[in-house]
Amino acid sequence: MELSRNRDLPRTEHKQEFVRSLFDRIAPRYDLMNRLMTLGMDQGWRRAALDAVAVQPGELVVDLATGTGDFAELAVARGARTIGVDFAKGMLRAARRRRPTGLFVQTDAGRLPFRDGSAAVMTCGFALRNFTDLDGVFAECARVLAPGGRLVLLEVDEPRSRLLRWGHALHFRHVVPRLGALLSDTEAYRYLPASATYLPGEQELITRLETAGFTRARKRRHLFGAIQQIQTTRA
Ligand SMILES: C[S@@+](CC[C@H](N)C(=O)[O-])C[C@H]1O[C@@H](n2cnc3c(N)ncnc32)[C@H](O)[C@@H]1O
Repeated sequence: MELSRNRDLPRTEHKQEFVRSLFDRIAPRYDLMNRLMTLGMDQGWRRAALDAVAVQPGELVVDLATGTGDFAELAVARGARTIGVDFAKGMLRAARRRRPTGLFVQTDAGRLPFRDGSAAVMTCGFALRNFTDLDGVFAECARVLAPGGRLVLLEVDEPRSRLLRWGHALHFRHVVPRLGALLSDTEAYRYLPASATYLPGEQELITRLETAGFTRARKRRHLFGAIQQIQTTRA
């Protein structure tokens, strides 16, 4: 695979295929790596995100880029009906192994096989930087959510304090790639930290959500700003 000028990132025209095959490869150890990289804090952030959109029993929650189904599993524990979607077969295989009765669909996040206004809530964990067409995905979320439906996004971010930014960069650029090389896949765990450069800044992200049809977007920070949570409502 040809890489772009940042040698850990693929060229734009190859990104989608690069990301899909990367997640297929790392799927078997994805959960282990997540728990180690975040010292087990990642599930707490997903719970906080579900609290933010007040998931109710019986509501339909679509978990976009569900991976191994963490968000979907937590939403089911709250009595919701969930559908997890992802384009990587390997990740969905791991999701189905964890939750054999769960509903998981292999599809691109930009082309969801759901009717307009059919979901009450959509969740998306740590996937924004992996999408090639972020605006297309936001437009698809706006189409599938019912008016007043809630969307919550989790992503990595940069702490605001200089000292914490230094520690964060050390963890992200040195600890994560070494851990990945040791336990999973060298190229993947160099790409994942580097891919944070794809993320738009706070104001740009909110503007792009509003353009897609969302309103009242708000950002909350976890872990001193290392993680961002954006919640918004379908206008
Ligand atoms: C970092 S993982 C996050 C998984 C899970 N949401 C979590 O919270 O751990 C990113 C996921 O996004 C999926 N993904 C990336 N681009 C996608 C796309 N265009 N359509 C569907 N899934 C996509 C990948 O296959 C991968 O499973």
